[in-house]
Amino acid sequence: MKILVTGGTGFIGSHTLVELYASGHEAVVVDNLCNSTQTALKRVEELVGRSIPFYQVDIRDRDGLNSVMNQHRFDVCIHFAGLKAVGESVEKPWEYYENNLSGTLTLLDVLRQHGCKNIIFSSSATVYGDPAIIPITEECPKGHCTNPYGQTKSMLEEIMMDMQRADKAWNVVLLRYFNPIGAHPSGRIGENPSGIPNNLMPYLTQVAVGKRPELGVFGNDYDTPDGTGVRDYIHVVDLAKGHVAALKAIESNCGCAIYNLGTGQGYSVLQLVNTFEKVNGIHIPYSIKPRRAGDIAICYSNPAKAERELGWKAELGLEEMCRDAWNWQKNNPEGYGGMENGKLKTEN
Ligand code: NAD
Ligand code: WQD
Repeated sequence: MKILVTGGTGFIGSHTLVELYASGHEAVVVDNLCNSTQTALKRVEELVGRSIPFYQVDIRDRDGLNSVMNQHRFDVCIHFAGLKAVGESVEKPWEYYENNLSGTLTLLDVLRQHGCKNIIFSSSATVYGDPAIIPITEECPKGHCTNPYGQTKSMLEEIMMDMQRADKAWNVVLLRYFNPIGAHPSGRIGENPSGIPNNLMPYLTQVAVGKRPELGVFGNDYDTPDGTGVRDYIHVVDLAKGHVAALKAIESNCGCAIYNLGTGQGYSVLQLVNTFEKVNGIHIPYSIKPRRAGDIAICYSNPAKAERELGWKAELGLEEMCRDAWNWQKNNPEGYGGMENGKLKTEN
């Protein structure tokens, strides 16, 4: 299939491109590079041995999107583009609503005008809020999102479901990711946070590489086996393969379908730290800090629906996630070379 990948130079998008090409699909990438660099795409091209058309276009730019869609006919759009930092979204709610909501509304409109009514959307386990049931199935009611980022995911899910209800020509697949970590085993592509990482694994790998003195563990008094937060970490390569599997739902005219993409296993912060130390033979200094506002104690998936309906399940475990995250960080201590306003400071 020919696929429009928005946000394709980002962390999950770049890994998904590799898996799309490995499965015989073709992609065109649209990204405004606000949180990524074209070097990621160059490295994907090396990995897949093909050149991939790229347009530096903002998804809020209707003319820009029209121009891309006048040049290509797409079967499906995989829509990653969006702002994703939870804390920043609390500081800058307008920017998050404007980018994520306006951008997606414009994208949906241009897609339908060009006759492409198939979309796979990056949603998040954050829509479950503090989950009513554990492990979380797709039937678990959506919860209260404590931050604007999560609200944008939840609202966009509703918008796309309403559009599909009104026009049955649409196929909408909502993928609710749990906690993607790790990197491609080649060490050529991976997560490239700008500034101080918000998420656990990129922070931990920056401690491992000596860029930060120690990891802060946010709370050890949760109602969990060791008191630290429990999450469903999923290898980004497994997650990427989940998107290839989701194309099957589109092919079978699924209408609207929702899938959790997780492993079904919950691990605590300290279990992750211990596994990282054991697999990579590196000591990670850490200290216990107060709980982080908005965090929940436990979040892990029941991923059975994706296996039953898409034939997809996560294959890689916590050890592979820790090994590949470290392999990426140690080979690319500055990520893709450091970015300034979407441009590389140094090329590597
Ligand atoms: P990322 O920031 O690495 O990738 C997102 C990409 O979208 C970036 O390359 C950025 O430049 C681009 N972008 C942002 N706004 C844009 C706009 N207006 N126009 C064009 N491009 C724009 O993030 P990621 O981790 O790869 O996440 C991909 C998607 O998955 C996001 O929608 C995110 O919210 C969602 N998600 C991520 C996680 C996670 O933990 N990484 C979890 C659940 C859901
Ligand atoms: C994991 C655990 C922290 C950093 C976030 C978003 C979610 C989704 C995935 C996009 C928690 C603890 C963290 C640190 C720590 N993103 N931690 N020290 O919060 O589960 O999910 O990313 O959709 O919406 O909220 O992920 O990696 O930030 O935290 O102790 O320096 O690690 O308290 O228990 P989270 P995370």
